[in-house]
Amino acid sequence: MKVLILGVNGFIGSHLSEAILREKDWDVYGLDIGFDKLGNIIDDPRFHFVEGDITINKEWIEYNIKKCDVVFPLVAIATPATYVKNPLKVFHLDFEANLEVIKSAVKYNTRVIFPSTSEVYGMCTDEVFDEDKSNFILGPINKQRWIYSCCKQLLDRVLWAYGFEKNFNFSTFRPYNWLGPKLDSISTTKEGSSRVVTQFIGSILRDEPIKLVNGGHQKRCFLYIDDGIDCLLRIIENKGGVCDKEIINIGNPDNNITIKELAAKIKRIFEQHPLVKSKIVQKKVKIENVSQEKFYGEGYQDVTFRVPSIKKAKALLGWTPKYGTDSALSKTIDYYIKEYVEDKKRCGKDLR
Ligand code: UGA
Repeated sequence: MKVLILGVNGFIGSHLSEAILREKDWDVYGLDIGFDKLGNIIDDPRFHFVEGDITINKEWIEYNIKKCDVVFPLVAIATPATYVKNPLKVFHLDFEANLEVIKSAVKYNTRVIFPSTSEVYGMCTDEVFDEDKSNFILGPINKQRWIYSCCKQLLDRVLWAYGFEKNFNFSTFRPYNWLGPKLDSISTTKEGSSRVVTQFIGSILRDEPIKLVNGGHQKRCFLYIDDGIDCLLRIIENKGGVCDKEIINIGNPDNNITIKELAAKIKRIFEQHPLVKSKIVQKKVKIENVSQEKFYGEGYQDVTFRVPSIKKAKALLGWTPKYGTDSALSKTIDYYIKEYVEDKKRCGKDLR
């Protein structure tokens, strides 16, 4: 099997490539503008990497879509602060650039595994979000936060339409707040520029307070990356064609906590880390409240809760998530603390 991953150096792309090379005999063809998250796999003979941009390297992409069995178009902006500040950037990259990839895949009849998002459900009021039954509820146009959700929704619908009218084969997956090592770069994160888990860990390491938007009463279900990748490998394998033209939620309904609880857990796990307890890393965790207008600006609207139904992933793929919130956070925090220590050592700085 030949798997094409556009955005291979991203959070999902890098973990997925590692898992494929470790557990399967498939080849990975990957494109990205960077390679810092790829580590040793870049030297693996079954990993074929090209440094490039999906908006520029179009011939390479078309050639590889034609050659491969499946394509993951993973290039996208996925941080809410950017949806609010640069909605057009989100539209050009997340929608326009990916639409071209999808059209090319249709031309060569290469199966697409598309990363939709839990954000498509928006402010849906269902207790659990069902891929085939729940309605999508987005805010008004002047709340530009929804442009990401809307771009992804339209591509979900385009794929569905190609399946319906042209019998094109795709599988769409919807990640729910995945976390783990390499989620976002904390050395470059500024206020609001990454997702909540890395925002909190980055704030602690930069000696800034953790900020709870609107008191942190909103809830998310967090899923550890290894659980997500396990599910994606099953989707790629697609035994008996069970995922043909299916949309599949990938989240952990048992890990449903408020952002305030998340902050408290991160504080506790951080303070118990051996490098912090032994004072090799000296940091104090402070937690503050902030209004959404101050943190994100007027174009933001929040999702107060979202719980996935994972009945479909269980029924089609026999998949269930294994990691609880504490173990997922411990592994993630451990990765970022060690990365911080390594960075400081490289720069010859002390660890305060
Ligand atoms: C995210 C992103 O849109 C996408 O990465 C992704 O598609 C989707 O979730 C997903 O993985 O399911 P969201 O969960 O709203 O959306 O984004 P986060 O930045 O992780 O924020 C989660 C919650 O924490 C929000 O309620 C936000 O207001 C809050 N928050 C965020 C804080 O209280 N403080 C912060 O410093 C950052």
